[in-house]
Amino acid sequence: MQSSTITSAPSSEARIEALIQQMTLAEKIGQMTQVEKNSITPEESAEYFIGSILSGGGGNPTPNNAASWAAMVRAYQETALTTRLRIPTIYGSDGVHGHNNVHGAVIFPHNIGLGATRDTDLMRRIAAVTARELLATNVHFDFAPAVTVPQDIRWGRTYEGFSENTALVTELAIPFMLGLQENNVLASIKHFVADGGTTWGSTSTYEWLTGNWQTPGDTHKIDQGDAQIDESVLRSIHLPPYKAAIDAGAQNIMVSFSSWQGVKMHAQRYLITDVLKGEFGFQGFVISDWMAVSQISQNYATGVITSINAGLDMVMVPYAYKDFINTLTEAVQAGEVSIERIDDAVRRILRVKAWLGLFDQPFGREDLIPSVGSAEHRAVAREAVRKSLVLLKNEGAALPIPRHLPILVAGQAADNIGLQCGGWSITWQGEPGSTTPGTSLLEGIRDNVDAAVDHNTDGQFSSSEKAAYGIVVIGETPYAEGLGDKADLSVSAEDVALVQRMRALCEKLVVVLISGRPLIITEVLPLADAFVAAWLPGTEGQGVADVLFGDYPFTGKLAFSFPRSMDQVPLDALNQDANGALFPFGFGL
Ligand code: BGC
Ligand code: BGC
Repeated sequence: MQSSTITSAPSSEARIEALIQQMTLAEKIGQMTQVEKNSITPEESAEYFIGSILSGGGGNPTPNNAASWAAMVRAYQETALTTRLRIPTIYGSDGVHGHNNVHGAVIFPHNIGLGATRDTDLMRRIAAVTARELLATNVHFDFAPAVTVPQDIRWGRTYEGFSENTALVTELAIPFMLGLQENNVLASIKHFVADGGTTWGSTSTYEWLTGNWQTPGDTHKIDQGDAQIDESVLRSIHLPPYKAAIDAGAQNIMVSFSSWQGVKMHAQRYLITDVLKGEFGFQGFVISDWMAVSQISQNYATGVITSINAGLDMVMVPYAYKDFINTLTEAVQAGEVSIERIDDAVRRILRVKAWLGLFDQPFGREDLIPSVGSAEHRAVAREAVRKSLVLLKNEGAALPIPRHLPILVAGQAADNIGLQCGGWSITWQGEPGSTTPGTSLLEGIRDNVDAAVDHNTDGQFSSSEKAAYGIVVIGETPYAEGLGDKADLSVSAEDVALVQRMRALCEKLVVVLISGRPLIITEVLPLADAFVAAWLPGTEGQGVADVLFGDYPFTGKLAFSFPRSMDQVPLDALNQDANGALFPFGFGL
């Protein structure tokens, strides 16, 4: 078993130059290629000198557990080490709220909840736990943290952002990145840049991409769209986290699917090469997003040439890797991409691999498999849940709830691990149900109450007498990326009806909102005595009960404003409205 220490020793430039001298063009282009694991066997990955393998959202082995993950990843590394130059591969995955693809791993609140904690030390500890669970499975490359600054909550990726506020994003993302990298996992700072600054309705579709999920006429409208903003807005709102991350030691940056001023980010030489690598001095490697190179042009070669010349160092192909390799090889042979550009890309990739210590310790820490989803790791997540809760209303001191009173609990998310985890949980989109071990909100509530707890999802209770307390858990069902783009963020009619029904059944009513973004809550808010925004808390539902019953105080502060109506969306519209937000950024009782 390999043990792994933090290797921040300066990369050995001489060793890397010697390698580059010896490498054939095929070996170099192989390093620049990242392939999705179902599209390539370990043997093929060695044959093509593939530099990196990834699991996409839900890219799990069968059975899905930490041990089979470790074996799956190990196989790619073992074959990489049999190649002529024995250059290690690096395996990547989206550990965006814990090692969230793995059944049994601890799942933390999504970033939107972490934004409300405002706790930089906690970010470092969460990232350290995530890194250890990743390393247990030999994964050294985490496509996190997102440093997006979402300006329009209709975006289906809003919850991946810490805040609508640039300074808060930077403050939390940097310790998160450090927590990963101090524990020998490469962080990917994403998505460069202004993924959160696109305009509603500006998303393009790519008819030439068969099988692409962006088919004409689908419902998403803003994800992967166009940031129609000038350079001063780009520089003040969206670029600062990248500068700060680079100054703090970022080694990998992922380019955004979106466009800036009508040009795809993957084709933006000015921003990738001049600003990021030049002005900001970024020495690490830049990676594409999933199939994003294929979106640039109907002509694949044009997309490859444009993006590599723009400064892309590694391409998340992720499927047709032979096409990518052949296309780039021909482009180099035809002089359309210079060998200096290829060498620069390879140098950056090898430098990061050396910096991570992969040449000496190519494997992770399989000895840590028993700690995946351990009580110790779950305690950190439970703390994060507690600190992420934002109390928006508390009339008549409804909270904390006394433990000796009977309680009615309702709502589809009250007893549902999948709903409280949201997207990027076991599967790409996430799904309702008992998807992975954890504690539901209801279990947490039951643990705290010394009287009867009656639970019915639809709020159908028989007693003719009013209960002392009711807790109703409303909100959103899981989604990821553009499939979560939504024009109307009003609380659903079913949830409004449920809150009304519960209001009639209880003396005091506590509403808990499980959602990936602020919703329009004006209809239900007046019906509640207490109202708690709980975001997407992850597997540790007791964290909610810890605070509802007063074991811990509410400390969370809004990292996103709650608009009064859809007229106050996006953020620009809210900022221009003299009425102000329903609950402004920073609010929390
Ligand atoms: C993958 C995701 C990826 C998405 C992009 C999905 O099939 O599982 O990881 O982000 O495709 O379209
Ligand atoms: C997403 C990225 C993710 C990648 C790999 C893409 O669709 O935009 O955030 O890292 O897939 O799953």
